[in-house]
Amino acid sequence: MHIDPLEKKWVLISLGMVSLFVAIIMIDALFHGVNAPSNVETIDSRKIHLSKEFNEDNLGVQVADNGDITVRMVAGRYAFFPKQIILPTETKVTFRWVSMDVLHGVHMPMTNMSTMIVPGYVAQVESSFPRPGEYPILCNEYCGLGHDHMWSKALVIEKEEWAASRATQNAMLNTAIEDEGSNNE
Ligand code: CUA
Repeated sequence: MHIDPLEKKWVLISLGMVSLFVAIIMIDALFHGVNAPSNVETIDSRKIHLSKEFNEDNLGVQVADNGDITVRMVAGRYAFFPKQIILPTETKVTFRWVSMDVLHGVHMPMTNMSTMIVPGYVAQVESSFPRPGEYPILCNEYCGLGHDHMWSKALVIEKEEWAASRATQNAMLNTAIEDEGSNNE
């Protein structure tokens, strides 16, 4: 079969481009944690505040007994709640997002955080932050007139500092509870 040299050249160039794109997707998926959302978990959007997992006291950063960190956030026109969270560097964090009204998206620049938050579903993304700093949490799906102003922020601090501040927070909570106990006596 005769193939014109110019045609051959373009066949090779297009094959090269396809291989390059596949390689970029694979590298992002395997080394940068950029994956298609795959967590199919449903929730009743109208009753989020009554749900066990996403009631107000349970939002924000939670640390399990085994040290796993989970962040639960509710997206609603026009913010992510809570408005600010504090996270440690170099630690795996599991984010769980739900919407209380319409379709939102969440994007944290310079991280792998980018997912739609579809009402009725829980969006889950694992992330970690190599460097301390202030990371904006932005909505990237048009959700209404206030869409431009829909953002919250994550403050990432060194993990030692974070652990220490956690301990003081817990100590403060405990003394508050003790004080309340002695007042009642
Ligand atoms: Cu929420 Cu745009």
